[in-house]
Amino acid sequence: MTMRTHTCGQLRDTHVGQTVTLAGWVNNYRDHGGLIFIDLRDREGVTQLKFDPDLAGSAHKVAEGLRHEDVVRATGKVVDRGVNDKGQALANPKLATGQIEIEVSELVILNKASTPPFTPDDAQTSEEIRLRYRYIDMRRPQMQNILRTRHRVAKIIRDYCDKHGFYEVETPFLCRSTPEGARDFLVPSRLQPGSFYALPQSPQLFKQILMVGGVDKYIQIVRCFRDEDPRADRQAEFTQIDLEMSFVEPDDVMSICEGMIREVWKQVLGVDVPKVERMCYAEAIGRFGSDRPDLRFGMELVDVSDLAQQTDFKVFRGAIEAGGLVKVICVPGAGGGSMSRKETDALAEWVKQFGAGGLPTCKIESGKLTTGVAKFLESISTALIERTGAKDGDLLCFGVSPRKTVVHRTLSELRVKLAHDLKMIKPGQWKWLWVVDFPMVEWNDEQKRWDSLHHPFTAPLDADLDKIESDTANVKSKAYDLVLNGSELGGGSIRIHRPDVQQRVFKLLGIDEEAAKMKFGFLLDALQYGAPPHGGLAFGLDRLVMHLVGTSNIRDVIAFPKTQMGADLMTEAPAPVDDAQLKELSLRVQTHAKPDKAV
Ligand code: AMO
Repeated sequence: MTMRTHTCGQLRDTHVGQTVTLAGWVNNYRDHGGLIFIDLRDREGVTQLKFDPDLAGSAHKVAEGLRHEDVVRATGKVVDRGVNDKGQALANPKLATGQIEIEVSELVILNKASTPPFTPDDAQTSEEIRLRYRYIDMRRPQMQNILRTRHRVAKIIRDYCDKHGFYEVETPFLCRSTPEGARDFLVPSRLQPGSFYALPQSPQLFKQILMVGGVDKYIQIVRCFRDEDPRADRQAEFTQIDLEMSFVEPDDVMSICEGMIREVWKQVLGVDVPKVERMCYAEAIGRFGSDRPDLRFGMELVDVSDLAQQTDFKVFRGAIEAGGLVKVICVPGAGGGSMSRKETDALAEWVKQFGAGGLPTCKIESGKLTTGVAKFLESISTALIERTGAKDGDLLCFGVSPRKTVVHRTLSELRVKLAHDLKMIKPGQWKWLWVVDFPMVEWNDEQKRWDSLHHPFTAPLDADLDKIESDTANVKSKAYDLVLNGSELGGGSIRIHRPDVQQRVFKLLGIDEEAAKMKFGFLLDALQYGAPPHGGLAFGLDRLVMHLVGTSNIRDVIAFPKTQMGADLMTEAPAPVDDAQLKELSLRVQTHAKPDKAV
C-alpha cells in the first residue's frame, strides 16, 4: 500500500466519491459531541477529516486521542461538505479543499508528537522560539511558500543561464581570503599547523580565473561567508547568484542580468519589469544621499549651501566654512501639526547615530517659515521656499555637517525612515535602478588611504586610465549596482584584465608589489597568460527572495538562519570544542575574559 494517494492540498469536489489516503500533521482538533473533525496539514495545504462514530469504527476511538502535530495517515471517502440543518452550505471558502472532507474509515498514527512548544498557526510566538524549533516553524504555510519561492527562483535562474550558455561551476569553500571588505571566517588546517583557510566572502577571484581558463560564461548559486554583524538584510552566511562573462562590456552584463530579473519577476509574480533606468553615482548621492536610492517616494535632497552661507546662523555657516554642506528635505504635510515638537526632537536624537550634531527643522505656515530654526533663516526664507517647493503644512529638515558624507547619510536615512513612518510608500511598487559610474576609490579619512568602492579588481574607465595616480579621486570605474526599492540587489563590474593595470591599482590601495605577490600572486600570474576582457555581477539570492515574498527580515527567507549574535539556536552553534580537537589542529584557546591566565 502506498503511504498516500493525494496531498492535503489536492482534493476538490471532482474527487467526491473516491477513496483516498492522506498523510500529514494534525493541525487542529475539534470534537463536536461525537463527530470529530481534524484538519490534516502537509506542505500543500489542509484537508478536513471527519470521524463519524457510526461510520469510522475503531478509527473514531484513535481520533479521540489525537493532538496537535501528531503524524497520521487517514483513509476514507471524499464527500461534499453539504449543508447544515438550517440549509447553510458548510463549505469553507478560505480553504482550497474547503468544498470537501474525508469521511475517515481507517486511521494510523505514524508518530505521536509531544506537546509542541507552539503550533505553526500561533502568530504570537517569538522569533527566538521559532528559530529554536525551526522544524515546527517550517510547517507554517508562509514558510513553506518562502521555501517554494526560493526553490523556484533558483530553478528559473538555472534554466535562464543554461539557455544563455552559462556553465555552472563549483568553486572552493576552503580558500585564501579575498578582500571584499569584511572579516573572514577562518578554518585551521590540520595538515599545515598554523595555517588557515578562509571561507569565501565571494568566489570573485575564482570566477575571474575561470574566464582566464576559457569557461566564457559562469554561473553559481553559491554560499558566501562574511564575518560581519548581521542586520535585517545581512547574514554572515548568505547566498549569491554569482556570474561572470568573457569578452563583454558593462551593457552586456547588465542586459543579461536584467533579463534574468525580468524572467524571475514574470514567472514568480506575473509582474513585467520594464527597461531599468540608469543613474550615475554622483547624481544618486546628490539627489538622494545614497548609492541605492529608494525611488518610491520624493523628498529629494536640495542643496541650500549657497543660501545658508548668506545667513548669520552659526550652525550653517560654520559647517560650510569647514568645507561641509547644508542640504534639506521637504517632508510633505509633516509640518502642519502631524509632527509634534517632541517628535522632531526625537528625530534630532535619532540622526546623531549617523554623525550629525542634530536636526534643524522648521515648518511652513501662510507662506512663511515658522518654529524651529525659522528665526535664523528670515533673510533667505523666500529663496528657500522657492527652491524646495515647500508648501504650507510642510516640514523642512536640514542636514548640516562639515563632512559631506554625514549630510548625505543623515538625510538619506531620514528620508527612508520618514517615508515608512508617515506611510508615504504605496504598496506594490517596484522601482528598479542601475547605479553606474561609481568612483573607483574613495578616501578613507580615518586610515588616510584610498579604499575601493567595489573591490580592487574593478576596472577603471578606459578614458581614466591615465588619471589613476594623478587624479585619483576622479577616476570612475566600470561598476554597476542593481537597486530595487532602495535595497542593493546586486553589484558587479568589468574587471581589470591587464596585470600592469592591476598592479597600479594595488599600489594605489597601499598594497605594494611584494604584498600583492604574496596575496594575489596567482591572480597576477593568471592575468599574464592570456586573460580575456571579462566582467560579471552577483545578486544576493536572500535579498531577492525577500522582495518576492514581501518580508523585511532576511531570516525569514533562510531555512536555518543565524541570530543577531551569529548563533544557530537550533543546533546551538557556535559551541566550544574539546581539547583533543584543538590539539589536533595545533590550536590553543585564549579567552579574553581572563587575560592574566593564559589558557
Ligand atoms: P557584493 O559584495 O556587492 O559583490 O555582493 C553582491 C550582493 O550580495 C548580497 N550581499 C549580501 N546578502 C546578504 N547578507 C550579506 N552579508 C551580504 N553581502 C552581500 C547583496 C549584494 O549586492 N564579488 C562581488 C560581485 C561581483 O563583483 O561580481 C561581490 O561579492 O545583494
